[in-house]
Amino acid sequence: MSRIAVLPGDGIGSEVIEQGLRVLSVVAPDLTYEHFDLGADRYLRDGTTLPEDVLQRFRNEFDAVYLGAFGDPRVPNNEHAKEILLGMRFRLDLYINFRPCKLLDDRYCPLRGKGRKEVNFVVFRENTEGMYTGIGGQFKRDSEDEIAIEQEINTRKGVERILRAAFDYARAHGKKRVCMSDKANAMRHGHELWQRVYKLVAKDYPEIQASHLYVDVAAMKMVQTPEAFDVIVTNNLFGDILTDLGSALIGGLGLAASANINPGVAAMFEPVHGSAPDIAGKNLANPLAAMLTASLMLEHLGRKDAAFRVEEAVRRCLEDGAVTRELGGNLGTTAAGDAVLARL
Ligand code: NAD
Ligand code: IPM
Ligand code: MN
Repeated sequence: MSRIAVLPGDGIGSEVIEQGLRVLSVVAPDLTYEHFDLGADRYLRDGTTLPEDVLQRFRNEFDAVYLGAFGDPRVPNNEHAKEILLGMRFRLDLYINFRPCKLLDDRYCPLRGKGRKEVNFVVFRENTEGMYTGIGGQFKRDSEDEIAIEQEINTRKGVERILRAAFDYARAHGKKRVCMSDKANAMRHGHELWQRVYKLVAKDYPEIQASHLYVDVAAMKMVQTPEAFDVIVTNNLFGDILTDLGSALIGGLGLAASANINPGVAAMFEPVHGSAPDIAGKNLANPLAAMLTASLMLEHLGRKDAAFRVEEAVRRCLEDGAVTRELGGNLGTTAAGDAVLARL
């Protein structure tokens, strides 16, 4: 029996998580849940973001965290979202952000002549350092001479562990190719470290073809020849950008799932999309990304059959056109949930 911490969050986060939980209740009825009231409402009410004792409970009492999204126009700079979302990733040291780009039905791919056979790769995004640590500062703020510095952090340990995670995944899943993407031609210090460590790590995986692309070319190739990729491994910021691009290849953010993992320690599962304030509260959000995220969580919990059932039910909804409006269907969020349940 596994215990799940649920953080629905803001905007469409809570709408899609509700549908994900309906699906989970069918395929894994023995899972138990505790809901956590964290997010914009709570922050505006009493200033709480992500208290240490709550985080400690995630570490000790739960097998996984299932999370919607954070972000609310009422909160200046989305301070709460940074503290909660990045707080989960950093403070639980969830160094692997695993984001599959697997097309489930050809008609949702915007690329001419490409289908399920061509669009099927995964991205390993470094999730605990890079441009995301907030290290930096501002000087002479609000003057003509002001300076803003944002430091990119690349540690040998941090780089090595995400590279190894990507190769280990490739090896375990029979994937032949790993591609590391950086911008070492412009970022000579941090990304030169990535290049050097990549060459060393690759030696331990001689059966896997280890290639490299600068991130600008990687973005182009993802569109031109997505079939060139099995596993992409990259830093935090580039991984963020490439995975929104990747989501477009499979039908958009409404279908993109992700897992944040520190193997054997903790794991958090969230759709790639945000709180989408533009459609929140309108029954327009596509819940399929949250469901495919639940599928990743089930797989992580060792429930392969249940994970497959969810993916297959989602795939059949896509095949039948039983989808939300942004995918050309006419279903609302709840009806899209009904459609998946009906196919389970
Ligand atoms: P977003 O992902 O929320 O939305 C981008 C666009 O995609 C919008 O037009 C939205 O309507 C659409 N969209 C997203 N998810 C959808 C779904 N499930 N169904 C249908 N359409 C969907 O990105 P944004 O607008 O840049 O960010 C909004 C807020 O969310 C910001 O505060 C941002 O920081 C936050 N955010 C949070 C997370 C997270 O908590 N994991 C992730 C990304 C963005
Ligand atoms: C994501 C989001 C976050 C990120 C934001 C909300 C900080 O875009 O999960 O992809 O950049 O990691
Ligand atoms: Mn993103």
